[in-house]
Order: sequence, then C-alpha cells, then structure tokens
Amino acid sequence: MGSLETARVADLLSDTLTAPTAGMRAAVAAAEVGDDVFGEDPTVRALEEEVAGLLGHEAGLFCPTGSLANQLGLRLHVPPGGELLADQLAHVVRAELGAAAVFSGITSRTWASVAGRLRAEAPISMLQLGVGPYQVETRLVVVENTHNFGGGTIQPLEEIDRLRSATRPLGVAMHLDGARLWNAHVATGVSLAAYGRLFDTVSVCLSKGLGAPVGSVLVGSAAAMAEARVWRKRYGAGMRQAGILAAGGLYAVRHHLDRLAEDHDRARRYASAVAEVAPVVDPTTVETNIVMLDTTPTRFSPAEFAAALGERGIRVYPADATRVRAVWHLDVDDTATDGAIAATREVLAG
Ligand SMILES: Cc1ncc(COP(=O)(O)O)c(C=O)c1O
Repeated sequence: MGSLETARVADLLSDTLTAPTAGMRAAVAAAEVGDDVFGEDPTVRALEEEVAGLLGHEAGLFCPTGSLANQLGLRLHVPPGGELLADQLAHVVRAELGAAAVFSGITSRTWASVAGRLRAEAPISMLQLGVGPYQVETRLVVVENTHNFGGGTIQPLEEIDRLRSATRPLGVAMHLDGARLWNAHVATGVSLAAYGRLFDTVSVCLSKGLGAPVGSVLVGSAAAMAEARVWRKRYGAGMRQAGILAAGGLYAVRHHLDRLAEDHDRARRYASAVAEVAPVVDPTTVETNIVMLDTTPTRFSPAEFAAALGERGIRVYPADATRVRAVWHLDVDDTATDGAIAATREVLAG
C-alpha cells in the first residue's frame, strides 16, 4: 500500500503540524481586534506585553514567522558587512535561506558543535574586533535553545552566562533563537526570564510545540522593538486585524506551556523502547521533544528508514546523511506513541 493510502498512526514530522484546539478556536473567535499597523489591536498588544514580560524584556513585536522574528533581530545588531557567529547547525544559518545575507548584508561564521550544544569557548575564540579595514568585525553571537537540528538540545545556562560575560565588555550583541525556548524552560525549570535576560533580543515561536497556527514574538528593548517595527512594515509584514492570530498565540502561552512536559516524556519513552531493539538512539540524550535516530547501524539510509516508517503510518523527517528526526507535539498522544514504537521496532527487526 502506498503511503497516501496508509492510515496515519503518528505524525512526527514536526511540531509545527498541530491543529488549533477547541479552546484555542474559541479564543480566536472571541478576539478583540483593531488595526495593528496603527498599534490599535488590543490582542496583539496583550500578546506582545505578556511575552516580553515572561522573557524579562521591555517590549515585544508580533511576527508571522520565527524566521522573520530572527531576521529582524539579527539586522538590529549587525550593520551591512558585519558578521554574526552561530553554531554550524543553527536554524539562522542552515534554514533561513541566506536571509541575513540577502536582506541585511550580514556575513556568517560558524562554530562546530556536538548536537548543537553550546560550549562558550567556541564562539569566544572566534570574536574579531578592532580588525580595522582588513577583516570583518563580529557584531553578534546567535544561540539556539532548544537546538532543533542538534536534536532538541538544551543550552546550559552557565555556558550562555560565560558567553555573555565575554561579549558584553566588547559590545558584541547576543540574539537567542528561542523557537523552542518553552521546551527548555519546562524541561529545566529555569525561568524564561533567566534565559531571556542574557540576550539583547529573543525570538520565540507560538506555532511549534505550543500549538498556535501562526506566529512568533521578538522581544528586546523598547527602542529596539520600535526599530524592528519599522523593518517589519518595510518587509511587508505589517498586519492589520492580527489579533485573530495573536489570540491563538496568547491562548497557547496561557494553556499549552506546562503540557510540553508530556511531549518530553513521550519522546523519551519512544527512544527507550526503540533503543531496546537497536543502538539507533541513546535515550539519555533525549532532552526535550525531539528524537534523532542514527540510521548508521541499520541497513537503511535516512530516506529509506523514513519511507519504511511511512508505509506503517508514521511520518518522520530524514534530517541529514545519517539521521532521522521524530518530533513530539500536542497532536501525538500515548496511543500514537505506542504505534510509533511498534512500527519502529518492526522496521528495525526487518
Ligand atoms: C530553531 C528554529 N528557529 C526558527 C524557526 C523558524 O520558524 P518559522 O518556520 O516560523 O519561520 C524554526 C522552524 O522550524 C526553528 O526550528
């Protein structure tokens, strides 16, 4: 049977797949709205204020996507011809289609990491300042927490702190790609503000594990957000009655944050059950809602492994030359997780 006719057992492709819950739909339907380009949408303003407060920052800016929130953040800190430093697997360098270079004239240099985990020494050793007209000046360091392509990796607070201590006296800014910062917060108990305050700007996504259909928020100082607001409009993303969208995000922040722990538990349970039959994953490395399976010890390539699971109703993502990614979210319950375990064990036994 082809994958199109196969009944879907679990969709682990991405945590962006979630459908709005009934409560979220009701909140969207009831949203008070106004024209946000004129700053008159009360729901957008409430979301911006609430998220900025949670992250320990002065102001927020609602954006349609995480990529835009990141790109607005980057351009605030780096003038054309300046550079940012990021981990080699970071979303801003791997998956935003060169936007920093295309729109902002930013060059990027990357450091190598294991599973995307931040070791402060790596970016610290790359900082370049006062190099006159000969070399590119470092203006920004980007940290991703949790780390998507690293496999949901949580960044150690003390490493971020060490990096901040090194960058601050040099005037080098720091941006946090916190698309899944919610997961790091729920997994560690470290407050969102404790993470947020170590950065000049932070982007968070409402449309990933939190389950909103659309939206991200960029936070920073009031002056920085005023500037980002101008650029958001210039990029064509000034939205009008955007409270319809922001209401879903506000509902997500208020109702879907704590439940992320369930996604983490299920991801770990899946990894443990799969590791019992083949050494494709070390369950102790599963920190949040993402499981990376290493296909090297199997007879499958990542694409073949994903196809074999697809035939059994499980959708996963071939992440690179050796790994397949499975992501837990609001729409993957215990039954779906059991189904994913059974199918994966069957493929590995075959
Ligand atoms: C770490 C990270 N940052 C940013 C983004 C971008 O979000 P969006 O798809 O809303 O542009 C993603 C999307 O998957 C992501 O995983």
